[in-house]
Formats: sequence, C-alpha cells, structure tokens
Amino acid sequence: MAGVSDGDAAASDSSTADDAERTNATMRGSKVVVDDVGKVYESDRQRVEALSGVRFTVNDGEFVCLVGPSGCGKTTLFRTIAGLEAPTSGEIRLDGEPVTGPGTDRGMVFQEYGLFPWRTVRENVAFGLEEQGVRGTERTDRIDEMLQLVGLTDFADAYPKELSGGMKQRVGIARALAVDPEILLADEPFGSVDAQTRDMLHQELLRIWSETEKTVLFVTHDVEEAVKLSDRVVVMAADPGRVREVVTVDLDRPRDRTEPAFGEYVDRVRRLIGE
Ligand SMILES: Nc1ncnc2c1ncn2[C@@H]1O[C@H](COP(=O)(O)OP(=O)(O)O)[C@@H](O)[C@H]1O
Ligand SMILES: [Mg+2]
Repeated sequence: MAGVSDGDAAASDSSTADDAERTNATMRGSKVVVDDVGKVYESDRQRVEALSGVRFTVNDGEFVCLVGPSGCGKTTLFRTIAGLEAPTSGEIRLDGEPVTGPGTDRGMVFQEYGLFPWRTVRENVAFGLEEQGVRGTERTDRIDEMLQLVGLTDFADAYPKELSGGMKQRVGIARALAVDPEILLADEPFGSVDAQTRDMLHQELLRIWSETEKTVLFVTHDVEEAVKLSDRVVVMAADPGRVREVVTVDLDRPRDRTEPAFGEYVDRVRRLIGE
C-alpha cells in the first residue's frame, strides 16, 4: 500500500517536474514572458481588477496581437510591458530580465500618434536618437534609413499638421524603430485611420516586420486586424482582464480576408470574445 502510494507520488511528482521543466524551457527561449500578471487600480471610491493571472509568452521575431473588448485591460498590459506601469502581482520578463521601467529595447506606437507638432518629420524621427546621444552623420544616416523604410523620404521637412493620419502613423513607426529596439509595442495604432489606409499600413507594417525581424506586440480591438497580422492572437476577456485563449493563426502571408479559412479564424476569435 505504502509502496503503491509512494510510486504514485513519485510518478506524479516527476510528471509535474517534467511539465515545469518544459514550461521553464519554453519561457527561457521567449523574448517576452508575461508571468501571472495582475493589476489592480484602487482609489477611495473604487477598486478595478484590470488584469488577473495573465500569462503568455512571445517568441523572438514573433508577431502577436492582443485582442479583446473595450476595458479588458489591453492598454494596461501594454503599459506594463512598456514599463510605464508596475504590475500589482506577477512579473514581465524581457530576455529573462524583469521589467522595472521603460527602455530603448522597446519602441512604442500609440493610437494618437504622439508626434511633436513643432518638430518636422525628420526631427520627430530624431527624437530617440538625440536622447541616446547619437550625433552627426550616424544620426542623419539612421533617420534617412528610417524615412526610406516607411516611405516618407519626400516628407522629411514637413510638419505633422501637413500629413494625413496614415502618414503620421508611419512617422510614429519610424520614430519607434529609429533606436533599433528589439520589440515594437503598438496600442491600437491604426484605430484613427480609415479602412483603406489601414489596409495599406498593415501591408507596410508586415513588410517592415519581415525586413527588420523585430518582435511585435500589437494591441487591437479589431478581430480582422488581429487575424490579418498575427502569428498568434492572445484573446482577452474583461472583469477581470484575463487571457481567454491564445489562437495560433496558421495561414500563409499575404493573407486574404475573403478566404474561407481567414473567415473561420475571425469567427473563432469573435466567438471567444463573445461578439
Ligand atoms: N489609471 C487608471 N485608474 C483606474 N482605472 C483604470 C486606469 N486605467 C485603466 N483603468 C481601468 O482598468 C480597466 C482596463 O482598462 P484598459 O487597460 O484601458 O482596457 P482596454 O485598453 O482593453 O480598453 C478598465 O476598467 C479601466 O477603466
Ligand atoms: Mg486601450
């Protein structure tokens, strides 16, 4: 009897250890590890559990979208990974190192552009390089390279107010990539542009992603956008903000929205969200 239960205990211990070992191994190879992250916003009047037990990984060079309804904690998670917000519990690790604040290893793009209106396109793209103390021809060359990457060479000396929404967002991408971050973080970057421009920006972003081999973490509430772009879609649910499921999008690129398989992924993610 004792022998049997010892045996059982040993067997289950070793399978747990194996699982833990496998999990650790996967996590070690990951660029980003979101490890049991919780976030509570507390004030005198209310307590909001914005994130609870959020756990997923992003591999080096992977394109991952976070998708979910308004209020499910996407921006909170984005800000936590960016290091702008500290988690209440759990931890984010980049290349195995806990995130304690923002860093040049992460470039950020926001919905509202966040461009400096008094700076030209070139001067906007220069911002992070100035911060890093990159000067002279090294800086000019890098800016030229970025402007070329996003197709804005001819608009180098224009001001943001002279640009369309799509062009402003391309400046945002160029500025984020200028300092050569390892990870590009984007929070609903194409939420303010029209559908046609958005399609064009998707193609541009996918081209930039494959040319630069960056890891991309992209927040959206648009399910079609997530299926169009991602290797994997992290589907979130609200109250509290949590991961419902991680869906691997096994479709070749470029992807065609009119393909039945594309529609099946969209339907599956929509069902998970409860749309
Ligand atoms: N600074 C804050 N203070 C208090 N509550 C917040 C704050 N930021 C976000 N929240 C709350 O946390 C939840 C998640 O918000 P958010 O991360 O913005 O979601 P999403 O980006 O998915 O729409 C919401 O209920 C929101 O009201
Ligand atoms: Mg948001």
